[in-house]
Order: sequence, then structure tokens, then C-alpha cells
Amino acid sequence: MSSDNSPSRRPTATAAGHWILARAGKKVLRPGGRELTTRILKQVDFDGRDVVEFAPGLGHTARLILAYAVASYTGVEQDSFAAAQLRQHIGSDTQKVLNASADTSGLADLSADIVIGEAMLTMQGNNAKQEIIHEAHRLLRPGGHYLIHELSLTPDDIGPDRAQSLQRDLSQAIRVNARPLTQPEWTKILEAQGFKVIWCGHAPMALLSPSRLLADEGLLGTLKIVGNIVKDRDLRARILHMRSTFKDYEDNLAAIGIVAQKREE
Ligand SMILES: C[S@@+](CC[C@H](N)C(=O)[O-])C[C@H]1O[C@@H](n2cnc3c(N)ncnc32)[C@H](O)[C@@H]1O
Repeated sequence: MSSDNSPSRRPTATAAGHWILARAGKKVLRPGGRELTTRILKQVDFDGRDVVEFAPGLGHTARLILAYAVASYTGVEQDSFAAAQLRQHIGSDTQKVLNASADTSGLADLSADIVIGEAMLTMQGNNAKQEIIHEAHRLLRPGGHYLIHELSLTPDDIGPDRAQSLQRDLSQAIRVNARPLTQPEWTKILEAQGFKVIWCGHAPMALLSPSRLLADEGLLGTLKIVGNIVKDRDLRARILHMRSTFKDYEDNLAAIGIVAQKREE
């Protein structure tokens, strides 16, 4: 499939923030980093399970999942270039990557035990969030688990004006319609689609802090990223804009991991 029109291939001035970070060499693109992902994955048993991952992106979590003895793995990635890249590493009778949107995966009802999606619901409007959560519910067998890792608004009683200016400034900085929710709002939207939230974990939103970069990317990875940013003025401008926006709203943004269980009918 042609990948020229993929969002990930847009010019640096207009590409979404996560593709800008990927272009700089960043591999971990979720707000709570590798550490929160690891804590989320530990909440469920992957061995022998049919697993669907919405929005695998560069495949960091896919690799962690495939280290378990899963019965099957299916990635559902909207970006055709990213999906094609992933297919170079993932592809067999029981492991595949689909180029599709998570709200219309085309997968069969009740075909999964675990659905996971990281850093992908926040960037959807309210209806699209509901449609994707509904799709996760449709795919899961009763008792199955839906794992998410997203941005949360803090504190829970954040005022509407602050929430609105955060959404506006964040959307401008990352060129994506960013709509983080408070923990009670994430819980509500999941429970409205037939899930019960059974676990929540938190981490600072520190995607671009030096200590998180080192923890997520290692020393060599971090040096490579810094080198790429120094060399490319447009990339640097985008990343500095993102970093200053994250800093402006550091008291109002956090990473949240949630494990929700599909209610037994
Ligand atoms: C911030 S990146 C996160 C990638 C990966 N989950 C991670 O945490 O490293 C967002 C990803 O979501 C994908 N995406 C966004 N909307 C999607 C949708 N409706 N269906 C499938 N993938 C989607 C993008 O193409 C991109 O790969």
C-alpha cells in the first residue's frame, strides 16, 4: 500500500507531535513512558490470550506483548506507513498488523481477551472516543480486559476555562485535536460502554524531561535525539514549542493507565 499520504509523512511544520518526536528518533511515544506501560501490562495475564492493540505506532508495546506466549496478536494502525513498517517485523498466522481505524477494525465480535491502546484516545473527539471504546467492547469476550494509557487532566476539579485553554494550546503545539479527560471522566466514558474500571495507575506527564528521556530511550538514544534536534531547525522549533506547552500546563497534565473489564452480561 502507498504510504505517501500517511499523517506520519507530513512536513515538519504540520505533522502531529508524536510523529515529530518519532522523526527526532524517539521510540516511546506515550505520556507515562515505558514505566507506566510496564505497570499496566503487569495487571493482566497475556499468556494464551488473543490480544488486539489499537494504534501500535512504532511497535514498542507490540514487542513487549510478543515477549509473552500470546495466542495471537493483531495491531490495528491507522497510519499506512507505520503499519507497513510494523509488518516488516510482525507477520505470521497468529500475528498481524491491519491498516485500519480502531473504531472500525473489521475484526470479529468476541475475538479478543485483551484490547490495549496507548496514547490514541486522547487525540480523538468525544464521539470518536466513544466509538473506539465501543469497538474494544465489541471485540472483547465477557470478562476481557481493555487497557489504556492516556493523558489525564488534573486536578479532578480543574475549572472549565483552564481545561479549555489547555486543550487549545496543546492542540496547537502537537497539531492534533488533544482532548485529555480527568480520571472520573475517563472512568465514566469507559463505564458508559459496558466496562468496569478495576485499576488506575498514574505517572507524571514528562515526555520531554531529561530524566524520562534517559529512562525511556537510554543514553545513546537520548544523545541521538539531541543530535537530531540540534541539526534540524524546524524539528527544534516544533519540539521546543511542545516542551514549553507541557511546562505551562505541568500542574494540569498527567499520564493515566487504566485497566477496565468487560462486564459479564
Ligand atoms: C501518540 S502515537 C502512540 C503510538 C503507540 N501507541 C505508543 O504509545 O507508542 C498515536 C498513534 O495512534 C494512531 N492512531 C490515531 N488514531 C487512530 C485510530 N483511530 N485508529 C488506529 N490508530 C490510530 C496513530 O497513527 C499513531 O500511530
